[in-house]
Parts: sequence; C-alpha cells; structure tokens
Amino acid sequence: MSIETHPEFNNFHVVKHPLISHKLSLLRDVKNSKKTFKELVDEITLFLGYEATKDLPLTTQTIRTPLETFEAPVLAGKKPVILPILRAGIGMVDSLLTLMPSARVGHIGLYRNEETLEPQRYYFKIPQNSQDRHFFICDPMLATGGSMIETVNELKSEGVTRITVLCIVAAPEGVKRFCQLHPDVQVYAASLDRQLNDHGYILPGLGDAGDRLFGTK
Ligand code: PRP
Ligand code: URA
Repeated sequence: MSIETHPEFNNFHVVKHPLISHKLSLLRDVKNSKKTFKELVDEITLFLGYEATKDLPLTTQTIRTPLETFEAPVLAGKKPVILPILRAGIGMVDSLLTLMPSARVGHIGLYRNEETLEPQRYYFKIPQNSQDRHFFICDPMLATGGSMIETVNELKSEGVTRITVLCIVAAPEGVKRFCQLHPDVQVYAASLDRQLNDHGYILPGLGDAGDRLFGTK
C-alpha cells in the first residue's frame, strides 16, 4: 500500500493499492447488487482505516504471557470515536469497528438540499466529554465538501482537535474547499475523481451512495 499526497494540499491523501483500485472499479459498476455494494464498501474501508489509524499514539501496559511479564504496546488515551455522516457513512462503520472494536460511535445526520447543495443538519450525537478523543469521520462521498466541512465545524465547536476523515471517492472541487478551510484535518480517500456534474454528483463517481447502500431507489 502506498500514499499519494495531493501536490497542493498536503492533508489530502489517496491510498493506493491494486486491490483498492480493483474493488473501487467493481463498486462503481451500476450493475452490482446492494449486497455487493456493501461488501465492497466494507473491504475498501478496511484499507483506508488501516492507513488512517497509522499515527495513533501508543503507550505500554504490563501484561503476562505464559512465559513472562513484559511491557506491551497498547493504544494510548481515551477510546476513539467513529463518526459516520448519515446515511451513507453508516456503510463504513462495520469495518472501522473491526479495526477498533472498542471505539465509540457518534452520528451526524446531514442531507444535501438538492437545489442549493448546502448540508441540512437533522441529528448530532457524540460521546460526552469528547474533547480528548480522536474522531474518525466517515462518508463514502466528498463532493462539494459541504457535508464534511459542516461536520468538522461542528466537532471543532465542541472542542475536538484530533480529527481524521475517511472517504471513498472525492471530487477536486470539494477537496480544495475542505483542505483550504481545515488544513489540520488529514483526509484519506480511495480516489480523487475528475469533477462534479451540474447536480453536484461526482464523475465518474458511483452515483448516490446512500441509495445504493440502502436500496432506496
Ligand atoms: C451524500 C454523501 C455525503 C454528501 C456529499 O449524502 O453521503 O454525505 O452527499 O456531498 P457534499 O460533499 O456535496 O456535501 P446525501 O446528502 O445524499 O444524503 P444521504 O446519505 O442521506 O443519501
Ligand atoms: N452524494 C452522493 O451520494 N454521490 C455523489 O456523487 C455526490 C454526493
């Protein structure tokens, strides 16, 4: 696995691996079923999650193996928080929990107004006293960037300082907007696609991620 960091925005990273490329091509295919779509989201998220967690700090804890006692490395600090952006972000939670089984899970509910493309918030719940926790926001699509910007604004207004974003497909327009506003937040994506269309959909993209995950269209 390798990382390709954006030439202009050093907080945006595309995670490169032949299996990610292959799985993403399958994911884009309009012919795949709801079941296949979710399985591929799970698999791609595992790769993204592996990279996005690589700088989590460690401490040591004394443990006893069958043979001796030693200082074993373990994750330091409070449990991290996985924060899916509803709805489509929910599809990425299972894999992130596989990697971090004791992580807390928050939720933020946002939908895009189809005319203005501005995010409308309808739900927000994170653990109490979250300021010291590392947040992993997940959403398969970073299109205009509005939903992700709103989510990070909300977390920062709650005093959260350690935030990482995982998305599957990003558009250049959204990446530019997001990275200019939040240069301190690292973003890991499986692809930087070509552009947005007139309706704010990513091209080539994969369509409406929420509808494909939940079979609502
Ligand atoms: C999609 C997607 C993102 C958002 C991205 O959600 O899952 O949350 O659009 O677009 P943006 O970068 O332009 O804000 P949508 O609003 O369609 O809601 P849904 O997940 O409930 O379908
Ligand atoms: N939301 C989606 O689900 N897909 C896009 O292409 C853009 C926003």
